Parts: sequence; structure tokens; C-alpha cells
Amino acid sequence: MRSFEISYWLRTSATRQGYATEAVRLLVDVAYDQLQARRIALTCDQHNIASRRVAEHAGFVLEGTLRSSVLGSDGRPADSLVLSLVPGDRERGPPRAATAAKPSGQDCVGAGPIGGCLPIVACPPR
Ligand SMILES: CC(C)(COP(=O)(O)OP(=O)(O)OC[C@H]1O[C@@H](n2cnc3c(N)ncnc32)[C@H](O)[C@@H]1OP(=O)(O)O)[C@@H](O)C(=O)NCCC(=O)NCCS
Repeated sequence: MRSFEISYWLRTSATRQGYATEAVRLLVDVAYDQLQARRIALTCDQHNIASRRVAEHAGFVLEGTLRSSVLGSDGRPADSLVLSLVPGDRERGPPRAATAAKPSGQDCVGAGPIGGCLPIVACPPR
């Protein structure tokens, strides 16, 4: 089955302008419309409100808590959250309240491993 994992981060000067939400929505479109995804998931620190909001604005649904799955900033085991998006979620559509991005031409959106998150990974069909 085609299953994907994503993560995201922005330059600090580019945060809170809707860029991450817009980028994740675009990634979802590519994964489903061009790569025939059946599931997209992400993991985030339980205290990372911004990351969770980005995912939920893009239609991801909280799936569960991975207890003591990462080391927190204090070096002690901490919980992380798993959110996922499956076709039924997408058909229902994400909440559309997030702000639209205002491209400036000088900020960047990235994807890859950070803070216990996983890089974009495309797993081949089994
Ligand atoms: C997480 C991150 C990608 C969010 O990017 P962003 O472009 O600021 O996100 P958006 O502008 O699309 O905002 C999405 C939501 O997060 C909220 N948000 C953004 N930064 C926030 C913050 N510091 N504290 C609380 N909420 C925040 C926004 O208000 C918005 O929610 P709302 O529409 O309900 O108000 C960015 O903060 C970042 O790169 N953080 C460091 C790396 C990281 O934590 N990556 C995720 C690892 S799982």
C-alpha cells in the first residue's frame, strides 16, 4: 500500500503567515493525485501546537499518542502524537480557516527530519 510520512519546518522569519499550512496542503494534493497515496502520516511533539495546527488545518486527524517515544528538550522521555490523513478525511475536506500564504520570494519551506519528526518518505507498494 502506498503510505507516506511528512514533516515540515520554516525559517523563523517566515512563520505564522500560513506557509506551512499551504505547503502541506500541496503535498497532500501531490501525494493523492499524482502518487496514489492511501495514507499520509506525521509525528509531532505533543507540545508542538503549531505543528499540530498545521496538520489539522490540512485535514489530518489525531490518531494516537506514542508514549515515551522521543527525548524531550530536558533529555527525558516524552510523548509524541501521530496524525494521519486517509481518503475519507480528504473527501470530508479540511477546515479552511487557516490564513493564506503571502509569498515574499525570500522565505523557504522545507521538509525533512527534525525534532523527532520523520522525513518525507515514499514507501513502494507491496
Ligand atoms: C511548525 C511550523 C512549520 C508552522 O509553520 P507556520 O507557517 O508558522 O504555520 P502556519 O502559519 O501555517 O500556522 C498554522 C497554525 O499554527 C499556529 N502557530 C504558528 N506558530 C505558532 C506558535 N509559535 N505558537 C502557537 N501557534 C502557532 C498558527 O496560529 C496557525 O493556527 P491558527 O490558524 O489556528 O491560528 C513552524 O513553526 C516551524 O518550522 N517550527 C519549527 C520546526 C517544527 O517544529 N516542525 C514541526 C516538527 S513535527
